[in-house]
Amino acid sequence: MEKDKEKQELRGDSSFVMTRRTFLHKTVAAGIAVGAASVGWFPTINTMDIALGAETFKFAWISDTHLYPKDVNTRFVEKAVRAAKEVQAMSPPADFLIFGGDLSQLGERVELELGRDILSEITAKKYFIPGEHDWYLDMGETWRKFFGETPWYFDHKGVRFIGLNTVAWAPDYWTERKLTPKERMAAMATLDSIIAGPWAAVEKEQRQWLNDKALSGISKETPIVLFTHTPLYEYYPPWNFWTRDWKEVLEILKPFKNVTNIHGHTHQVLYNEIGNMRSIGMLATSWPWPYAPTGVPPLTKPMIRVDPGDPFDGVGWSKLTVTDTQRVENEYVMWRKQVFAESPSDRGDADNINQRLTPRIVEF
Ligand SMILES: [Fe+2]
Ligand SMILES: [Fe+2]
Repeated sequence: MEKDKEKQELRGDSSFVMTRRTFLHKTVAAGIAVGAASVGWFPTINTMDIALGAETFKFAWISDTHLYPKDVNTRFVEKAVRAAKEVQAMSPPADFLIFGGDLSQLGERVELELGRDILSEITAKKYFIPGEHDWYLDMGETWRKFFGETPWYFDHKGVRFIGLNTVAWAPDYWTERKLTPKERMAAMATLDSIIAGPWAAVEKEQRQWLNDKALSGISKETPIVLFTHTPLYEYYPPWNFWTRDWKEVLEILKPFKNVTNIHGHTHQVLYNEIGNMRSIGMLATSWPWPYAPTGVPPLTKPMIRVDPGDPFDGVGWSKLTVTDTQRVENEYVMWRKQVFAESPSDRGDADNINQRLTPRIVEF
């Protein structure tokens, strides 16, 4: 009975109502990517109305490189190298880089080392949050040795940036099954695996830290940018495209007027709004995941490679700008621009569209 209650809490209330705005923004139709939009191609530049800090600066995001050792597979290595070189070549330079998790494919030391070496090309300050692929071989031991502790926060030019660890919170699925560390990791490395259960969370201790430390003593007007590996909302639980206690986190963030969540993990162009929080999904450098078949936002077209033989298709990284007009602009740096994917165009009344969450739930 108690267990059922707990499950219910983890699953959340499926009748929760939210609003969303499609991620093809008006400015895309009005300006920069008209050519691309008018022929039905997915635009490469995505500008969002996000009122943030007052001073212009750029930062960069790379995530989901999923590196294998070089002697196994160099396809992913080449793309991570390319992203690092491009970040280093940014002009004006990025004030800092966020690496958003899944640096390695199977959490091996050799993979994490390779990632660290590739990213050392970038001289800007680097901040790291882990992905599940970095964690479940040795429960984060090597990753933490290389990249430090989470969570963290820092202030930069009037914006509070916060990095959370949303991957380390799986229910123990390995002890009873007598899984080896490699088997435990393998259970994580599958999109629709049900073995690991709803592992993505912020968890009580980190929520407490968020409330008592990261968000304390600052004005409610302070722009907040939260970096998480998994989306800080319920997109599609069967693939763990969510964070199971996202509603509690949103509750903590409620008093703040400008909250932006930037996340990896979903390997696709993604944008969502819930209350005062915008979520922007980042591309992977490794491969694009398809859009989830149901969930929020409802995206029914798969994101595929136009050329399945071209590993640089459908992937990339992100340049983010905090502008002097108090907007954050996100530019997806897509290495191939003709990606077959569609989204309903922004009708301009999206804030009035209420959508009901009807998630399919992970069995655990
Ligand atoms: Fe990933
Ligand atoms: Fe991931």
